[in-house]
Amino acid sequence: MRFGHFDDAAREYVIETPRTPYPWINYLGTEEFFGLVSHTGGGYCFYRDARLRRLTRYRYNNVPTDVGGRYYYLNDGGDYWTPGWAPVKRELDRYECRVGLSYTKITGERKGLRAEVLYFVPLGTTAEVHRVTLTNLSPAKKIVKLFSFVEFCLWDASDDQTNYQRNLSIGEVEVDGSTIYHKTEYRERRDHYAVWSVNAPVDGFDTDRESFVGLWNGFGEPQAVVEGRSRNSVASGWSPIGSHQIVAELAPGEARTLVFVLGYVENPKDDKWERPGVVNKAPARRLLERFRTSEQVDEALAALRDYWTGMLSTYTVRSGDERLDRMVNVWNPYQCMVTFNMSRSASYFETGIGRGMGFRDSNQDLMGFVHLVPARARERLLDTAATQKPDGSAYHQYQPLTKRGNNDVGSGFNDDPLWLISATAAYVKESGDFGILRETVPFDNDPKDAAPLFEHLKRSFHHVLHNLGPHGLPLIGRADWNDCLNLNCFSDTPGESFQTTGNRTGRTAESVFIAGLFVHVAPDYAALAEAAGFPEEAKAAREHAKRMEATVLEHGWDGEWFLRAYDFFGKKVGSKECEDGQILIEPQGYCVMAGIGLASGHAKKALDSVRDRLETDHGIVLNQPAYKEYHLELGEISSYPPGYKENAGIFCHNNPWVMIAETVIGRGDRAFALWKKIAPAYREDISDLHRLEPYVYAQMIAGRDAVRHGEAKNSWLTGTAAWNFVAISQHILGVKPELDGLRVSPCIGREVASFTLVRRCRGAEYRICVRNAGAGSKPVRLTVDGRPIEGTLVPYAPAGATVSVTCEA
Ligand code: GLC
Ligand code: GLC
Repeated sequence: MRFGHFDDAAREYVIETPRTPYPWINYLGTEEFFGLVSHTGGGYCFYRDARLRRLTRYRYNNVPTDVGGRYYYLNDGGDYWTPGWAPVKRELDRYECRVGLSYTKITGERKGLRAEVLYFVPLGTTAEVHRVTLTNLSPAKKIVKLFSFVEFCLWDASDDQTNYQRNLSIGEVEVDGSTIYHKTEYRERRDHYAVWSVNAPVDGFDTDRESFVGLWNGFGEPQAVVEGRSRNSVASGWSPIGSHQIVAELAPGEARTLVFVLGYVENPKDDKWERPGVVNKAPARRLLERFRTSEQVDEALAALRDYWTGMLSTYTVRSGDERLDRMVNVWNPYQCMVTFNMSRSASYFETGIGRGMGFRDSNQDLMGFVHLVPARARERLLDTAATQKPDGSAYHQYQPLTKRGNNDVGSGFNDDPLWLISATAAYVKESGDFGILRETVPFDNDPKDAAPLFEHLKRSFHHVLHNLGPHGLPLIGRADWNDCLNLNCFSDTPGESFQTTGNRTGRTAESVFIAGLFVHVAPDYAALAEAAGFPEEAKAAREHAKRMEATVLEHGWDGEWFLRAYDFFGKKVGSKECEDGQILIEPQGYCVMAGIGLASGHAKKALDSVRDRLETDHGIVLNQPAYKEYHLELGEISSYPPGYKENAGIFCHNNPWVMIAETVIGRGDRAFALWKKIAPAYREDISDLHRLEPYVYAQMIAGRDAVRHGEAKNSWLTGTAAWNFVAISQHILGVKPELDGLRVSPCIGREVASFTLVRRCRGAEYRICVRNAGAGSKPVRLTVDGRPIEGTLVPYAPAGATVSVTCEA
């Protein structure tokens, strides 16, 4: 069952009913100011850091779910309602929500009145702009009262939800005509305030929540709206809000458009005040000047559309399969941008107060984003590398505002450092910017201890080699990619963090996954070493990789698949000898991606085992059998009920590793079939089961051991976005930048007989025509500008050139 449809020409998903199986959200903002907005107008916004600069309040896990947002209430002759249906939930004659690229447009109609609300964050702006259009569709004149509404957060979203003894006394605002200033804590150390304005004279306002809503009312029945009368309240402590009241007289057929701006404004520390106690409003006025008219809004929206058109033109495919095209051309890269910006901070499943930027997460996110804006990927790489410790290990997370490593979580996730190599390689391949390897980057943000970026990669690589266990496999530390496989943790205290508790610091627990990752990054690392002028290091790296490959085959193979790990006691994890958790997905995908056991047949065996034991109709589960009880020696993985999350859930992040692995052994049919199982556009028809947005990936789909097999959770912020884009664009459709040319090597199987693809890279444009017999194992034949070439590497053309490539696969 569906709840909407894709409008491909507009690059929108159109939600047709507000009664979706869960709030379906979108993100506003592309640079510094961000908002989350659900299909009913719920959500919140923040400047740069979802925890420390939260503009509006949001209560997670509320009843009903998704309460609180930027709302527009209408009172049409006593009949009050909201265009997004909720929170008032008055039945609408028509409802539509258009989820676009960094904007959302909600339209509601009731009793001859149409209200359309467009939400977006213009480029280069630290504000949301909302354009509200009211249209009288009835044959009679209407007098409509419109009430805007936001509830301010007192900036630190964590403190805001906990420290009421202080917070209920500190709220402050200023009201100046149609503009409301939220200035809590501005009198002391803050140099920023929020501004909330409308481009028309107001007929009333409110800034005190209790005055507007009423102490015993909910957001569905604010007293001021019910009565059609603002209180003109000025908040003093308690809960500051912002509401404008506008009375619109509409002749039949007449429309009225209003522009609301909700922004973040900063002043220089020594220029905070206009006069004692009155904030300096000059920068706020400059911001508001830019969005005075509907035409200015049109221009800003057009600029946003152009921005997306430009970015998306980097990779476009026409395959004849509309679902494939819309995933690759629009929705998957869109999600990649959002995950790149947000890491795992703010979604409807991440509160924005829990996690900063993950070291491993950011590096992987970058791989799906780098082709969109290479310059921003560069900046991110340097920021991330600057949190690396001098011994090559890495803080697991860092704070986006300070860009410093987070001491509470610390380091010791032994896969982390290697992802920096993969991400750097992806960046250099895309951009050709080898110079970044010489860029000076501090360790642990200490400018006195700085070295070229290449030195950081070297310490990453050698961190693994300095931390090998009894079998010569990499020590796992607190965890590797699977945060929940905690082999040194041994936690028997409820509530203890599995990730930071280490009751036994052994040097025995080893990870076959990290071994696969190590072998996988080694060729890239070696090539970068050569480029940076260290041929000896390159040679050594290749030898280390060879040795690691042999070690994996000797100690990391279980007979039919790759072992997952050795635990603290040296016992096998992910082996037929285990009762539960006999096979885990991660090393199967990654070892084969790394090319381990290709010649010997181990690779194919491992992937056949994945197919036979882990694959379901809804994707590949993480492990089988699911852990039925808690294992002290395994940690969080065994804490989840069977079928959820890392315990035999379909953890969508790692499915693409198997897809890529299938292309490595030439099974394009399998790769494409696996890709389609979890791609949201292909799951649109089962939205009632899947429940989350059909336009973005979710982190997890419940596995076959779960009560609710096929149901998704944790949409939006997941490495799934980047990895699925890498799998489909670089390996299945098969167009991938390498250091010295564009690889064209599709492996999609028989279903897609031909496709054309445009790839822009390093300033040139490659027009690629693929005729696909689908064999997958045969070498492909390429012509470049009409001439046949050897192999699959199309040499890079100079910027400005257009290259035409044909490919018989
Ligand atoms: C989450 C984390 C990611 C981790 C994965 C598996 O998605 O953000 O870092 O690799 O879970 O545990
Ligand atoms: C929890 C989640 C896991 C995530 C981790 C981050 O364990 O289950 O997915 O990676 O937290 O610390």
